[in-house]
Amino acid sequence: MSTTGRSFTVTRVADPSTEAHFEDVIKGLASTPKELSPKYFYDARGSALFERITALPEYYLTRAETEILEREADAILEHVRPDKLIELGSGSSRKTELLIRAMEHTGANRYVALDVSEDALCEAAERLTERHPELDVGVVVADFDGSLDVIERHGRRLVLLLGSTIGNFPPGPREEFLTRIGALLKDDDRFLLGVDLVKDRATLEAAYDDAAGVTAEFNKNVLRVLNRELDGNLPLDAFEHVAFYDAENAWIEMRLRATRTVDARLRGIDLALHFEAGEEMRTELSCKFTRESVERSLAVAGLALERWIEDAGGRFALVLARRAG
Ligand code: SAH
Ligand code: TRP
Repeated sequence: MSTTGRSFTVTRVADPSTEAHFEDVIKGLASTPKELSPKYFYDARGSALFERITALPEYYLTRAETEILEREADAILEHVRPDKLIELGSGSSRKTELLIRAMEHTGANRYVALDVSEDALCEAAERLTERHPELDVGVVVADFDGSLDVIERHGRRLVLLLGSTIGNFPPGPREEFLTRIGALLKDDDRFLLGVDLVKDRATLEAAYDDAAGVTAEFNKNVLRVLNRELDGNLPLDAFEHVAFYDAENAWIEMRLRATRTVDARLRGIDLALHFEAGEEMRTELSCKFTRESVERSLAVAGLALERWIEDAGGRFALVLARRAG
Protein backbone atom coordinates (compact mmCIF):
# COMPACT_ATOMS: atom_id res chain seq x y z
CA MET A 1 0.00 0.00 0.00
CA SER A 2 1.26 3.47 -0.85
CA THR A 3 -0.08 6.70 0.54
CA THR A 4 0.87 10.26 -0.15
CA GLY A 5 -0.36 13.05 2.05
CA ARG A 6 2.92 14.44 3.18
CA SER A 7 5.82 15.36 0.97
CA PHE A 8 7.13 11.81 0.95
CA THR A 9 5.66 8.43 0.05
CA VAL A 10 5.14 5.65 2.57
CA THR A 11 5.00 2.05 1.39
CA ARG A 12 4.07 -0.53 4.00
CA VAL A 13 5.23 -4.09 3.42
CA ALA A 14 5.85 -5.35 6.94
CA ASP A 15 3.11 -5.34 9.48
CA PRO A 16 4.78 -5.75 12.86
CA SER A 17 1.44 -6.47 14.49
CA THR A 18 0.88 -9.76 12.65
CA GLU A 19 1.48 -13.11 14.24
CA ALA A 20 3.87 -14.17 11.46
CA HIS A 21 6.15 -11.32 12.50
CA PHE A 22 6.59 -13.05 15.85
CA GLU A 23 7.11 -16.57 14.57
CA ASP A 24 10.84 -16.42 15.27
CA VAL A 25 10.15 -15.28 18.84
CA ILE A 26 8.44 -18.55 19.52
CA LYS A 27 11.23 -20.48 17.81
CA GLY A 28 13.99 -18.55 19.59
CA LEU A 29 12.45 -18.79 23.05
CA ALA A 30 11.77 -22.49 22.63
CA SER A 31 15.40 -23.30 21.76
CA THR A 32 18.25 -23.99 24.22
CA PRO A 33 19.86 -21.62 25.01
CA LYS A 34 17.04 -19.14 24.40
CA GLU A 35 17.63 -16.40 21.86
CA LEU A 36 15.79 -13.47 20.31
CA SER A 37 15.82 -11.83 16.90
CA PRO A 38 17.34 -8.32 17.01
CA LYS A 39 14.63 -6.58 15.06
CA TYR A 40 12.43 -6.38 18.16
CA PHE A 41 14.75 -3.77 19.65
CA TYR A 42 13.57 -1.00 17.40
CA ASP A 43 10.14 0.19 18.46
CA ALA A 44 9.85 3.98 18.96
CA ARG A 45 11.56 3.81 22.36
CA GLY A 46 14.23 1.43 21.07
CA SER A 47 15.03 3.64 18.09
CA ALA A 48 15.33 6.66 20.43
CA LEU A 49 17.62 4.69 22.77
CA PHE A 50 19.77 3.65 19.80
CA GLU A 51 20.11 7.33 18.86
CA ARG A 52 21.43 7.96 22.37
CA ILE A 53 23.89 5.06 21.97
CA THR A 54 25.31 6.67 18.83
CA ALA A 55 26.25 9.76 20.90
CA LEU A 56 27.90 7.85 23.79
CA PRO A 57 31.62 8.44 24.39
CA GLU A 58 32.26 4.66 24.29
CA TYR A 59 30.32 4.07 21.06
CA TYR A 60 32.95 5.16 18.55
CA LEU A 61 31.27 3.47 15.55
CA THR A 62 28.97 6.29 14.51
CA ARG A 63 31.67 8.94 14.89
CA ALA A 64 34.19 6.89 12.90
CA GLU A 65 31.71 6.24 10.09
CA THR A 66 30.67 9.90 10.07
CA GLU A 67 34.33 10.92 9.81
CA ILE A 68 34.76 8.73 6.71
CA LEU A 69 31.59 10.09 5.12
CA GLU A 70 32.56 13.69 5.81
CA ARG A 71 35.86 13.09 4.06
CA GLU A 72 34.77 10.76 1.24
CA ALA A 73 31.09 11.26 0.40
CA ASP A 74 31.79 13.57 -2.55
CA ALA A 75 34.46 11.26 -3.98
CA ILE A 76 32.17 8.22 -3.64
CA LEU A 77 29.23 9.97 -5.29
CA GLU A 78 31.43 11.38 -8.08
CA HIS A 79 32.72 7.88 -8.72
CA VAL A 80 29.37 6.05 -8.65
CA ARG A 81 27.13 8.87 -10.00
CA PRO A 82 23.91 7.14 -8.91
CA ASP A 83 20.42 8.37 -9.78
CA LYS A 84 19.28 7.41 -6.31
CA LEU A 85 20.27 6.17 -2.89
CA ILE A 86 18.48 3.14 -1.45
CA GLU A 87 19.19 2.55 2.24
CA LEU A 88 18.50 -0.66 4.16
CA GLY A 89 17.98 -0.25 7.94
CA SER A 90 18.14 3.54 7.60
CA GLY A 91 17.12 4.40 11.19
CA SER A 92 17.49 8.16 11.70
CA SER A 93 19.26 8.65 8.30
CA ARG A 94 21.61 11.14 9.99
CA LYS A 95 24.88 9.99 8.45
CA THR A 96 23.04 9.50 5.16
CA GLU A 97 22.56 13.24 4.94
CA LEU A 98 26.26 13.52 4.09
CA LEU A 99 25.68 11.22 1.11
CA ILE A 100 22.45 12.98 0.18
CA ARG A 101 24.24 16.33 0.08
CA ALA A 102 27.00 14.82 -2.08
CA MET A 103 24.38 13.26 -4.39
CA GLU A 104 22.67 16.62 -4.76
CA HIS A 105 26.03 18.06 -5.88
CA THR A 106 25.94 15.57 -8.75
CA GLY A 107 22.37 16.56 -9.70
CA ALA A 108 20.45 13.49 -8.47
CA ASN A 109 17.66 13.77 -5.90
CA ARG A 110 15.98 10.47 -5.04
CA TYR A 111 16.35 8.77 -1.64
CA VAL A 112 14.52 5.60 -0.58
CA ALA A 113 14.79 4.51 3.07
CA LEU A 114 13.76 1.02 4.17
CA ASP A 115 13.43 0.03 7.83
CA VAL A 116 11.14 -2.00 10.13
CA SER A 117 10.70 1.03 12.36
CA GLU A 118 7.97 3.23 10.91
CA ASP A 119 8.51 5.82 13.66
CA ALA A 120 12.19 6.20 12.81
CA LEU A 121 11.43 6.32 9.08
CA CYS A 122 8.78 9.02 9.28
CA GLU A 123 10.76 11.18 11.67
CA ALA A 124 13.76 11.00 9.33
CA ALA A 125 11.67 11.66 6.21
CA GLU A 126 10.07 14.73 7.77
CA ARG A 127 13.46 16.15 8.72
CA LEU A 128 14.96 15.37 5.31
CA THR A 129 12.15 16.86 3.23
CA GLU A 130 12.31 19.99 5.35
CA ARG A 131 16.07 20.36 5.07
CA HIS A 132 16.30 19.27 1.42
CA PRO A 133 13.24 20.67 -0.40
CA GLU A 134 14.43 19.28 -3.74
CA LEU A 135 14.83 15.76 -2.38
CA ASP A 136 12.33 13.13 -3.50
CA VAL A 137 11.95 10.84 -0.48
CA GLY A 138 10.28 7.44 -0.31
CA VAL A 139 10.06 5.38 2.85
CA VAL A 140 9.40 1.66 2.87
CA VAL A 141 8.29 -0.03 6.07
CA ALA A 142 9.66 -3.52 5.49
CA ASP A 143 11.63 -6.32 7.05
CA PHE A 144 14.81 -6.95 5.09
CA ASP A 145 14.67 -10.56 6.23
CA GLY A 146 11.75 -10.74 3.80
CA SER A 147 11.76 -10.11 0.06
CA LEU A 148 13.81 -7.20 -1.28
CA ASP A 149 11.63 -7.09 -4.42
CA VAL A 150 9.97 -3.96 -3.07
CA ILE A 151 13.09 -1.97 -3.94
CA GLU A 152 12.68 0.08 -7.11
CA ARG A 153 14.83 -1.19 -9.99
CA HIS A 154 15.01 1.64 -12.51
CA GLY A 155 17.99 3.98 -12.68
CA ARG A 156 21.48 3.57 -11.31
CA ARG A 157 21.35 2.83 -7.61
CA LEU A 158 23.74 3.09 -4.74
CA VAL A 159 22.48 0.66 -2.09
CA LEU A 160 23.52 1.51 1.49
CA LEU A 161 23.88 -0.72 4.54
CA LEU A 162 25.56 1.43 7.16
CA GLY A 163 26.09 1.43 10.90
CA SER A 164 27.58 -2.06 11.12
CA THR A 165 24.10 -3.55 10.69
CA ILE A 166 25.68 -6.38 8.64
CA GLY A 167 27.43 -7.32 11.90
CA ASN A 168 24.11 -8.42 13.34
CA PHE A 169 24.11 -11.38 10.92
CA PRO A 170 26.27 -14.36 11.91
CA PRO A 171 28.30 -16.15 9.22
CA GLY A 172 25.89 -18.07 7.00
CA PRO A 173 22.90 -15.77 7.28
CA ARG A 174 25.36 -12.94 6.56
CA GLU A 175 26.36 -14.35 3.17
CA GLU A 176 22.73 -15.22 2.42
CA PHE A 177 21.72 -11.62 3.07
CA LEU A 178 24.61 -10.27 0.97
CA THR A 179 23.66 -12.69 -1.81
CA ARG A 180 20.13 -11.29 -1.83
CA ILE A 181 21.56 -7.77 -2.01
CA GLY A 182 23.95 -8.87 -4.79
CA ALA A 183 21.06 -10.36 -6.75
CA LEU A 184 19.40 -6.95 -6.63
CA LEU A 185 22.32 -5.14 -8.26
CA LYS A 186 22.65 -4.40 -11.96
CA ASP A 187 26.17 -3.98 -13.36
CA ASP A 188 26.11 -0.19 -12.91
CA ASP A 189 24.72 -0.29 -9.38
CA ARG A 190 26.97 -0.16 -6.33
CA PHE A 191 26.74 -1.27 -2.72
CA LEU A 192 28.17 0.76 0.18
CA LEU A 193 28.65 -1.24 3.37
CA GLY A 194 29.72 0.01 6.81
CA VAL A 195 31.71 -2.51 8.89
CA ASP A 196 33.24 -2.29 12.34
CA LEU A 197 36.80 -3.64 12.50
CA VAL A 198 38.45 -6.16 14.82
CA LYS A 199 40.31 -4.34 17.60
CA ASP A 200 41.26 -4.66 21.27
CA ARG A 201 38.75 -6.22 23.62
CA ALA A 202 38.47 -3.27 26.02
CA THR A 203 37.45 -0.81 23.30
CA LEU A 204 34.94 -3.25 21.83
CA GLU A 205 33.35 -4.27 25.11
CA ALA A 206 33.01 -0.67 26.34
CA ALA A 207 31.14 0.24 23.13
CA TYR A 208 28.48 -2.32 24.08
CA ASP A 209 28.45 -1.77 27.84
CA ASP A 210 28.61 1.96 28.45
CA ALA A 211 29.05 3.57 31.85
CA ALA A 212 25.74 5.45 31.66
CA GLY A 213 23.82 2.22 31.12
CA VAL A 214 22.07 3.29 27.90
CA THR A 215 23.02 0.07 26.10
CA ALA A 216 21.67 -1.94 29.02
CA GLU A 217 18.37 -0.04 28.74
CA PHE A 218 18.34 -0.68 25.01
CA ASN A 219 18.95 -4.37 25.49
CA LYS A 220 16.19 -4.68 28.10
CA ASN A 221 13.80 -2.74 25.89
CA VAL A 222 13.30 -5.93 23.94
CA LEU A 223 11.47 -7.33 27.01
CA ARG A 224 9.13 -4.34 27.05
CA VAL A 225 8.39 -4.88 23.36
CA LEU A 226 7.54 -8.54 23.99
CA ASN A 227 5.36 -7.68 26.99
CA ARG A 228 3.43 -5.08 25.01
CA GLU A 229 3.12 -6.88 21.67
CA LEU A 230 2.53 -10.37 23.02
CA ASP A 231 0.65 -9.55 26.20
CA GLY A 232 3.46 -10.74 28.44
CA ASN A 233 4.59 -10.25 32.02
CA LEU A 234 8.37 -10.60 31.86
CA PRO A 235 9.77 -8.77 34.92
CA LEU A 236 12.33 -6.25 33.65
CA ASP A 237 14.03 -5.96 37.02
CA ALA A 238 14.93 -9.66 36.95
CA PHE A 239 17.29 -9.30 33.98
CA GLU A 240 20.71 -7.75 33.57
CA HIS A 241 22.67 -6.69 30.51
CA VAL A 242 25.68 -8.80 29.48
CA ALA A 243 28.08 -7.95 26.62
CA PHE A 244 31.37 -9.67 25.87
CA TYR A 245 33.79 -10.06 22.98
CA ASP A 246 34.24 -13.55 21.60
CA ALA A 247 37.64 -13.20 19.89
CA GLU A 248 37.49 -16.60 18.23
CA ASN A 249 34.30 -15.73 16.39
CA ALA A 250 35.20 -12.02 16.19
CA TRP A 251 31.85 -10.91 17.52
CA ILE A 252 30.34 -9.07 20.45
CA GLU A 253 27.58 -11.10 21.99
CA MET A 254 24.77 -9.39 23.87
CA ARG A 255 22.71 -11.31 26.38
CA LEU A 256 20.10 -10.81 29.06
CA ARG A 257 20.80 -12.76 32.25
CA ALA A 258 18.05 -13.69 34.69
CA THR A 259 19.18 -12.63 38.17
CA ARG A 260 16.60 -14.89 39.81
CA THR A 261 14.19 -17.66 38.80
CA VAL A 262 11.59 -16.25 36.43
CA ASP A 263 8.26 -17.74 35.47
CA ALA A 264 6.37 -15.64 32.99
CA ARG A 265 3.87 -15.90 30.14
CA LEU A 266 3.46 -14.40 26.71
CA ARG A 267 -0.32 -14.74 26.53
CA GLY A 268 -0.49 -13.46 22.95
CA ILE A 269 1.25 -16.59 21.70
CA ASP A 270 0.22 -18.77 24.63
CA LEU A 271 3.82 -19.39 25.67
CA ALA A 272 5.02 -20.19 29.19
CA LEU A 273 8.57 -19.10 29.92
CA HIS A 274 10.88 -20.36 32.62
CA PHE A 275 14.35 -18.97 33.38
CA GLU A 276 16.70 -20.44 35.96
CA ALA A 277 18.60 -17.90 38.07
CA GLY A 278 21.72 -17.04 36.05
CA GLU A 279 20.25 -18.28 32.77
CA GLU A 280 21.27 -16.19 29.79
CA MET A 281 19.41 -15.44 26.57
CA ARG A 282 21.24 -14.16 23.50
CA THR A 283 19.68 -10.98 22.15
CA GLU A 284 22.19 -9.66 19.61
CA LEU A 285 25.47 -10.30 17.83
CA SER A 286 27.72 -7.61 16.44
CA CYS A 287 30.39 -9.16 14.22
CA LYS A 288 33.72 -7.44 13.74
CA PHE A 289 35.61 -7.60 10.44
CA THR A 290 38.95 -7.44 8.70
CA ARG A 291 39.43 -6.54 5.05
CA GLU A 292 40.00 -10.24 4.36
CA SER A 293 36.84 -11.41 6.12
CA VAL A 294 34.76 -8.81 4.27
CA GLU A 295 36.25 -9.83 0.93
CA ARG A 296 35.50 -13.47 1.66
CA SER A 297 31.85 -12.79 2.52
CA LEU A 298 31.42 -10.56 -0.54
CA ALA A 299 32.94 -13.21 -2.82
CA VAL A 300 30.51 -15.86 -1.56
CA ALA A 301 27.70 -13.42 -2.37
CA GLY A 302 28.91 -12.74 -5.93
CA LEU A 303 30.18 -9.29 -5.03
CA ALA A 304 33.62 -7.73 -5.52
CA LEU A 305 35.29 -5.09 -3.40
CA GLU A 306 36.02 -1.89 -5.31
CA ARG A 307 37.15 0.49 -2.54
CA TRP A 308 38.09 0.06 1.10
CA ILE A 309 38.06 3.27 3.14
CA GLU A 310 39.00 3.44 6.85
CA ASP A 311 38.73 6.27 9.35
CA ALA A 312 42.04 7.80 10.51
CA GLY A 313 42.04 5.61 13.62
CA GLY A 314 41.52 2.38 11.63
CA ARG A 315 38.45 1.52 13.70
CA PHE A 316 35.74 1.31 11.03
CA ALA A 317 35.58 0.85 7.26
CA LEU A 318 33.28 1.75 4.42
CA VAL A 319 33.34 -0.78 1.63
CA LEU A 320 32.24 -0.01 -1.90
CA ALA A 321 31.30 -3.15 -3.79
CA ARG A 322 29.86 -4.19 -7.14
CA ARG A 323 28.63 -7.32 -8.82
CA ALA A 324 31.53 -9.67 -9.47
CA GLY A 325 32.44 -10.80 -12.99
N1 SAH B 1 21.67 2.92 9.71
C1 SAH B 1 21.50 3.56 11.01
C2 SAH B 1 20.75 2.68 11.99
C3 SAH B 1 21.48 1.43 12.42
S1 SAH B 1 20.59 0.54 13.69
C4 SAH B 1 22.85 3.93 11.56
O1 SAH B 1 23.83 3.59 10.93
O2 SAH B 1 22.93 4.58 12.59
C5 SAH B 1 19.85 -0.73 12.72
C6 SAH B 1 18.60 -0.27 11.97
O3 SAH B 1 18.17 -1.39 11.21
C7 SAH B 1 17.45 0.13 12.89
O4 SAH B 1 16.88 1.34 12.43
C8 SAH B 1 16.46 -1.03 12.76
O5 SAH B 1 15.11 -0.62 12.87
C9 SAH B 1 16.78 -1.58 11.39
N2 SAH B 1 16.50 -3.02 11.28
C10 SAH B 1 16.92 -4.00 12.13
N3 SAH B 1 16.49 -5.21 11.71
C11 SAH B 1 15.79 -4.97 10.56
C12 SAH B 1 15.09 -5.81 9.65
N4 SAH B 1 15.04 -7.13 9.83
N5 SAH B 1 14.49 -5.25 8.57
C13 SAH B 1 14.55 -3.90 8.37
N6 SAH B 1 15.19 -3.05 9.21
C14 SAH B 1 15.81 -3.58 10.30
N1 TRP C 1 24.29 -2.40 14.64
C1 TRP C 1 24.63 -1.85 15.94
C2 TRP C 1 25.98 -2.42 16.35
O1 TRP C 1 26.21 -3.59 16.22
C3 TRP C 1 23.52 -2.16 16.89
C4 TRP C 1 23.79 -2.01 18.37
C5 TRP C 1 24.58 -1.13 19.00
C6 TRP C 1 23.21 -2.81 19.38
N2 TRP C 1 24.50 -1.33 20.37
C7 TRP C 1 23.69 -2.33 20.61
C8 TRP C 1 22.34 -3.87 19.38
C9 TRP C 1 23.30 -2.94 21.81
C10 TRP C 1 21.94 -4.46 20.57
C11 TRP C 1 22.41 -4.00 21.78
O2 TRP C 1 26.85 -1.69 16.78
